[in-house]
Amino acid sequence: MMMKQACIFLISCLCSLMVHAQRTFPGLFILGGELGNSSASSPEDIKRIFPKLERMGLNTVLVPVYWELVEPEKGSYDFSLVREAIQQAEKYHLKIVFLWFGAWKNSMSCYAPAWFKKDYKTYPRAKTRTGKPVEVASVFSANVLNADKQAFSQFVRFLAKNDRHHTVVMLQIENEVGMIESSRDFSETANKEFKKNVPAKLLHYIRQKKNSLHPFLLTKWKEHGSRVSGSWTEVFGDDIYTNELFMAWHYAIYIEQLAKEARTILSLPLYVNAALNSRGRKPGEYPSAGPLAHLKDIWKCAAPHIDFLAPDLYDKGFKDWVRQYALPDNKLFIPEIRLEDNDGIRAFYVFGEHDAIGFSPFSIEDGSDSPDYPLTQSYRVLKQLAPFIHKYRNSGRMKGLLFDETHKDTTILWNESTIKAAHYFTLPWDSRATNGQTWPEGGGLMIQLEKNEYLVAGSGIVLTFYNKQEPADMQKRGEDGFIISGEKHRVTNNPWQDIARCGLLSVDEVSVDSLGNMQRVRRLNGDQDHQGRHVRISVGEYKILHVKLYQYK
Ligand code: DGJ
Repeated sequence: MMMKQACIFLISCLCSLMVHAQRTFPGLFILGGELGNSSASSPEDIKRIFPKLERMGLNTVLVPVYWELVEPEKGSYDFSLVREAIQQAEKYHLKIVFLWFGAWKNSMSCYAPAWFKKDYKTYPRAKTRTGKPVEVASVFSANVLNADKQAFSQFVRFLAKNDRHHTVVMLQIENEVGMIESSRDFSETANKEFKKNVPAKLLHYIRQKKNSLHPFLLTKWKEHGSRVSGSWTEVFGDDIYTNELFMAWHYAIYIEQLAKEARTILSLPLYVNAALNSRGRKPGEYPSAGPLAHLKDIWKCAAPHIDFLAPDLYDKGFKDWVRQYALPDNKLFIPEIRLEDNDGIRAFYVFGEHDAIGFSPFSIEDGSDSPDYPLTQSYRVLKQLAPFIHKYRNSGRMKGLLFDETHKDTTILWNESTIKAAHYFTLPWDSRATNGQTWPEGGGLMIQLEKNEYLVAGSGIVLTFYNKQEPADMQKRGEDGFIISGEKHRVTNNPWQDIARCGLLSVDEVSVDSLGNMQRVRRLNGDQDHQGRHVRISVGEYKILHVKLYQYK
């Protein structure tokens, strides 16, 4: 009997470890784009758009699934659009991430079917502080949950039966959930819930994970006495930020139910996306309580079947936002970013710097399918690099680069090398740098293959390699790229006696086949590497360089 109990305990520990361990998704490498909200609502649009996406170089498309069209009458389901999307994706060599536009889309319940919307007594709305009902289904209603979960479950079952070629690689549950207009739901049911104690599971989690908690949560908990029990206001204080924590817990336990259901049917990665609390907005002024960085611990604790939380990026501060989501317990995936010419460069950065799972500009069908479109050029290069990205992801041997007119350069200390990396326009000879136009971003990714061997890919960058002991040369250069000061500062002792210098042994522009074999496109030397001084990829060009270094004294 004892033996049996021990076995059950061990198995349950293992299962919970499997749920809680950070999954790494080695197969996922999403060069994506998300369709505009209404672009998958007719078979004709799907047929028209998908071939363009292949021409644009995507390997994956993010496609909404609309609850209102899936279940127009309660209990009767229509998955013809889902079927069409899978068929077209297969025809045009795309994978799919489906987005479940269920009970909430950008906090609102606009995609709920008409029968749900009209029956507000059965499916109640959230209320603001003043008692005003908003078109946000109440997360506290079991009827809302059951109706949403039932439809979602039918959808996942449809996939399990019909996606025979595994075209669907991931699912997003709901879209940018969160309370709007007030920091929490003030309906009667919500008020009752708010008076209850903070769930013991959450307080246990906070105590267990003290060292890795988001500082926002840790501070709020400590400031109010690091309590091990109590109501939401007792534990975290009485303010709108506590309201947001409370709502986050409830959105997360709701979504956990859908995620758990999906996992029993299909073993696809599952994620949720967040509208960011950018521009200094306060809870209630954006979809509050969504999977935001400062609420990640609430979400991780309440929704262990959600594999990661993902940011939608429409505001300034790209590097900072992605850093907040690339965490030891959260893989970085960018399901939405504003469609613009800098996106191609940013894709390099997130794969190189943060081992991202994927990148996906929003309303992708509005982009151009010209082969010169920046995103297409970038995806073309990234696709070639896939074997290397798969091999080196999470190894610490990839780095990302991203520069603009304000952040022009950086010095990277990396193992035995110092690398000075900069925007291409820092070179003195490109007139586009000074013609008054805003610099396009420059960036890329670097992979260290061996001690003296790198792959550098991207656009608009220049890199100079030094040995670690060698002082990086930061001197001002003239128009021709030579140091201005010449031999003015003669020194008597020889500082170089013990220091080996780093030189470029060879620089090749290469292409890479699907097995990771490199073919030289051209040898770059002379003017193309400033006679062996640096490697560079011009603004507007997207390339892969294979760089070999050597040391000399
Ligand atoms: C973020 C949402 O997730 C998208 O569905 C879309 O509404 C964009 N914002 C803005 O167009």
